[in-house]
Amino acid sequence: MTVLITGASSGIGKSLAMKYAEAGENIALAARNVERLNQLKDELSQKYGGEITVFESDLSQEGAAQKLYQQLTEKGLKVHTLINNAGVGLFGEFHKTELVKEEAMIQLNITSLTALTKLFGKDMIQRGEGRILNVASIAAYFPGPLMAVYYASKAYVKSFSLALSNEWRDLGVQVSVLCPGPTSTGFKDAAELDESKLFKNKIMSAEEVANEAFEQFHKGKEEIIPGAMNRIQTRFGSLVSSKTAASIVRKTQERV
Ligand SMILES: NC(=O)c1ccc[n+]([C@@H]2O[C@H](COP(=O)([O-])OP(=O)(O)OC[C@H]3O[C@@H](n4cnc5c(N)ncnc54)[C@H](OP(=O)(O)O)[C@@H]3O)[C@@H](O)[C@H]2O)c1
Repeated sequence: MTVLITGASSGIGKSLAMKYAEAGENIALAARNVERLNQLKDELSQKYGGEITVFESDLSQEGAAQKLYQQLTEKGLKVHTLINNAGVGLFGEFHKTELVKEEAMIQLNITSLTALTKLFGKDMIQRGEGRILNVASIAAYFPGPLMAVYYASKAYVKSFSLALSNEWRDLGVQVSVLCPGPTSTGFKDAAELDESKLFKNKIMSAEEVANEAFEQFHKGKEEIIPGAMNRIQTRFGSLVSSKTAASIVRKTQERV
């Protein structure tokens, strides 16, 4: 049995791969950067043993999720745990950002995540067991001016995951959603967030997020928000109007 982690070449996905390798699991690592995945594979196999398989996959491409499912199936790898972690953001006023980047983001953050959940989830249901962790963000709790599409994509991931958690619980499949706050990873550069205030304060490391996520996920927690400050912020967000929440978010991430 295998744990499949998308976006395992860096950041939170890489840290989660380390946790699963340490726990003695066989792992399938997917992302675009195969060189980095192979480096991680070598590192993990040397340190922990276990079977590590690498898959080059660009999940912003149409049909990529189906192709990845097919590749794992052809190799006879049965996925008992799926971590839908791969995701990107994009900073900027919506009328100035490039639509092609937002379409790729939606394909990656929403469409591929949904397809992988259905394809592997159905197999899990057939076996009567399995676990899925979808990575959203605390962005899922607020409207996000200056990152409108990203925040909306994460709201989808959270809503989708909590609905499936309800549908699949009695079928033996746990579905959880991970909602990290700002985390020190490659995300900031990929999302063109250099000019934003958002990452200027002290933030959690990918390892801290992965440790908390791993522990809570394996305790069966449905909605996982790592870090006390992040939990307070999401709670506060539910107490104010959407308009106020949007103004606050804008202030926290506008250009310095
Ligand atoms: N860092 C934060 O502040 C933060 C906060 C909340 C939520 N999150 C979420 O956490 C998740 C992981 O991000 P991270 O912070 O760890 O950032 P990261 O270090 O940039 O990692 C993103 C991962 O996704 C992969 N990826 C990106 N585009 C891809 C594509 N088209 N196809 C397949 N894989 C792709 C990247 O690998 P390749 O480049 O090799 O493809 C990389 O492994 C994302 O869903 C993100 O939205 C991050």
